[in-house]
Amino acid sequence: MSVRVLGISGSPHRHGNTETLLDAFLEGAGNAGGSVEKTILKDLDYTPCRGCNICHKEGVCIVKDDAPGLLEHILSADCLAVASPIYSMGITAELKGLIDRAQYIWARKFVLKTLYFPDSHIRRHKGIFISTAGLAWDNVFDAAFPAITAFFNTMGFEYYDNIIANDMDRYKGIRGHPTALAEARAKGEEVVRVIERLTPD
Ligand SMILES: Cc1cc2nc3c(=O)[nH]c(=O)nc-3n(C[C@H](O)[C@H](O)[C@H](O)COP(=O)(O)O)c2cc1C
Repeated sequence: MSVRVLGISGSPHRHGNTETLLDAFLEGAGNAGGSVEKTILKDLDYTPCRGCNICHKEGVCIVKDDAPGLLEHILSADCLAVASPIYSMGITAELKGLIDRAQYIWARKFVLKTLYFPDSHIRRHKGIFISTAGLAWDNVFDAAFPAITAFFNTMGFEYYDNIIANDMDRYKGIRGHPTALAEARAKGEEVVRVIERLTPD
């Protein structure tokens, strides 16, 4: 079976810098034989986590909207590419809202202890963070990394790599960047091949 690659775009801006960088990654993954899918968070209907903590007892989220279905779908992917532009020095509300809604999966793991990902599972499930930022600052992505790390941990994915491009204002968008799109394509190909090698026949 081919490697299942799921891209999630947390940018509210369709076909902007971040989604274009995600598309390049997915193109590379597809070229390497991965089965590729993309979800646009802004087209889904979900609310922020209410913090009711009912999931700590039940292991499910009582809020019935699009978030639980997407989170279950993420659990069935081999490679998860999470994309967000930097907004106010962090990830977008769309993506942060989804990550918070994964609290019920966190609760299954750490409160109820009904869910456990063995190391072998985590090693063959790879998470990639894709991001763009307007500013040239070297540290412009720093506030995003911890939330992405937490999400990959919760969902059973190894944090494989970042594909990040800053200074979008100077480059006048991702298409003006000298290397980012080619790097994203190459990374997509690479990760599919790595997962294939880790998959038993
Ligand atoms: C509401 C908003 C907040 C932003 N905040 C930042 C920021 O804090 N730092 C930064 O470098 N760029 C910031 N930017 C610029 C975006 O990160 C940059 O233009 C990005 O490439 C946009 O990606 P997109 O085309 O996918 O929307 C912000 C843009 C918007 C719309």
